[in-house]
Amino acid sequence: MSTEQGLDARRATGAHAARVAARTVELRKVYGRGEAAVHALAGVTLDIHAGRFTAIMGPSGSGKSTLMHCLAGLDAATSGRVLLGDTDLTALGDRQLTTVRRDRVGFVFQAFNLLPQLTALENILLPLELAGRRPDQPWLDQIVDVLGLGQRLRHRPSELSGGQQQRVAVARALVTRPDVVFADEPTGNLDSRSGNELLGFLRRSVHDYGQTIVMVTHDPVAASYADRVVLLADGALAGEIFRPTPDAVLDALRRLGV
Ligand SMILES: Nc1ncnc2c1ncn2[C@@H]1O[C@H](COP(=O)(O)OP(=O)(O)O)[C@@H](O)[C@H]1O
Ligand SMILES: [Mg+2]
Repeated sequence: MSTEQGLDARRATGAHAARVAARTVELRKVYGRGEAAVHALAGVTLDIHAGRFTAIMGPSGSGKSTLMHCLAGLDAATSGRVLLGDTDLTALGDRQLTTVRRDRVGFVFQAFNLLPQLTALENILLPLELAGRRPDQPWLDQIVDVLGLGQRLRHRPSELSGGQQQRVAVARALVTRPDVVFADEPTGNLDSRSGNELLGFLRRSVHDYGQTIVMVTHDPVAASYADRVVLLADGALAGEIFRPTPDAVLDALRRLGV
């Protein structure tokens, strides 16, 4: 994309005016030492816009999951800074990080990660339970309704389809009204119909509720549900696309050699 197209796109989406929900500054992450050192992130400076749906894409091993884990306080930076709102995560100790993750961040994983012995409702309420917070009943009712889970709340995960399990995971991520929901390949284990349904719900939570979402995906169609695609290659930013179409994403990935 040319600079001019980029600017036009930015104006069109109002991205220039968006609040920043999370930010990395010169973020570096090195795994291992010496000869075996892997530079997973080689100095990434990135703003995540509040109330927007951002997709992170790039070749396998380009640092997508590492970036998301650092943003979410699941993994510590080697150097540089990671901010969630005004909170500098790189300045926090383990206990404070745990609190931030519990109270301000929601997660959706490829493998659903529901607790098998709990019902759907118990799974959804677990983050609130751990935080000692009461559910906001109207909000809970609304999420359950929008996600079509009303008839499934007493079921255990093994009694639910993959699509239903992932919708429970999305409800669990949204129930605390987190600052940011992080989703790593959330449709990776779903058939295309359930996947599109799930992406529609994520899109809707951004559009209707102002939720901020960051999603890692390798699927150009999934990425086209986002407002913006951020491209990574070899641990560095390699471009971005505002208002992505599947074709534009596919082209960009081809140029990166994916
Ligand atoms: N825990 C780890 N220990 C060592 N190397 C890791 C670890 N996690 C990731 N890496 C390496 O860091 C690089 C980026 O990995 P990752 O963020 O998982 O990439 P992506 O999600 O884009 O596939 C890869 O080379 C990967 O092998
Ligand atoms: Mg990954």
